[in-house]
Amino acid sequence: MNRLVLIFYAIACLKSVDVGAQVIGVNYGLLGNNLPLADQVIALIKSNKINKVRIFQPYQGVLQTLKDSNLEVVLGTLNEDLQQLATDQSFAASWVKDNVLAYIPSVKFRYIALGNEVIPGQYANFVYDAMQNVQNALKAANVNVPVTTVVSYAVLGSSYPPSNASFGQDSSAAMSKIVPFLQQNQYPLLANVYPCFAYFGEPTTIDADYALGNPNASFVYDGTLSYNNMFDAMIDAMYVALEKVGGNGVKVVVSETGWPSAGADLATTNNAKTYVNNVIQRVLTGKGTPKRPETPLEAYIFALFNENQKPAGTEQNFGLFYPDITPVYPVNIV
Ligand SMILES: *[C@@H]1O[C@H](CO)[C@@H](O)[C@H](O)[C@H]1NC(C)=O
Ligand SMILES: *[C@@H]1O[C@H](CO)[C@@H](O)[C@H](O)[C@H]1NC(C)=O
Repeated sequence: MNRLVLIFYAIACLKSVDVGAQVIGVNYGLLGNNLPLADQVIALIKSNKINKVRIFQPYQGVLQTLKDSNLEVVLGTLNEDLQQLATDQSFAASWVKDNVLAYIPSVKFRYIALGNEVIPGQYANFVYDAMQNVQNALKAANVNVPVTTVVSYAVLGSSYPPSNASFGQDSSAAMSKIVPFLQQNQYPLLANVYPCFAYFGEPTTIDADYALGNPNASFVYDGTLSYNNMFDAMIDAMYVALEKVGGNGVKVVVSETGWPSAGADLATTNNAKTYVNNVIQRVLTGKGTPKRPETPLEAYIFALFNENQKPAGTEQNFGLFYPDITPVYPVNIV
């Protein structure tokens, strides 16, 4: 490398360090039979200036490829493993050994998420014990990675207006164990936040611009706070519910948000492009929500690819990219 190239390279690195402070990640699902190889996928993520990736279970091939990628990784567990993780410390220890310790330090783990959208449900009451057992195993190895779970909006009994939000009765037993654990350890709660589904359900009552995050949306007032996008309002509803069970200090990380580009009337490429780009620009402002103005947002776009082995309809059409790596619509991360 000659000196000029080196200087350019140094500037490019500085820039990417800057970009690295960004708080946009992407969900990398593998429920497709036509998806690119993991090394192509990781190159694609990096070339889009995304520095965080969530995977839903510890795919060894993907974890191998993530080594030295510098991407921060949110690692999920199979929901079917929760019971054994919760009830068998030695299973939890070997899960941690095989899927986390084996990859440290060349894989940077941001969070370990025990269970995806299992509260309320048959696995809900295993989540807290699974978190505890996985944390024990990490601590025994002197590894400090936040341990948490991913909740869907179904965890809330009420969510509107945000100040009136609370966890549902069928979720409160699980959440009243999980939230103090998160609070005590200063771990975040991961939440999947989809204004699109609320809007699809009530397209005539909800302002399209409010759901899409367009800056010209009219404001919704809630006590002393006001919202001009549903994304912020939904996050704040989660904060209110957390406060009600002693989680005043628990940060909400948006583990999924997105908009399908097909599969329903309002699932258009244009709406998907508008929402996803608005949400990215929203997060990149570094500003928190009305309720937590000092807490910058962190959000993972759902999803990287259209996945043809998911249920038909909108579920298959959340991708930023088609499996051949052509964009479904342009996304601007910078
Ligand atoms: C608050 O939530 C409760 C219970 O879900 C509901 O009955 C009530 O109407 C809500 N309040 C407002 C102002 O919407
Ligand atoms: C708000 O802005 C969006 C995007 O620029 C535009 O498509 C939409 O029509 C506007 N809404 C209103 C009510 O003017």
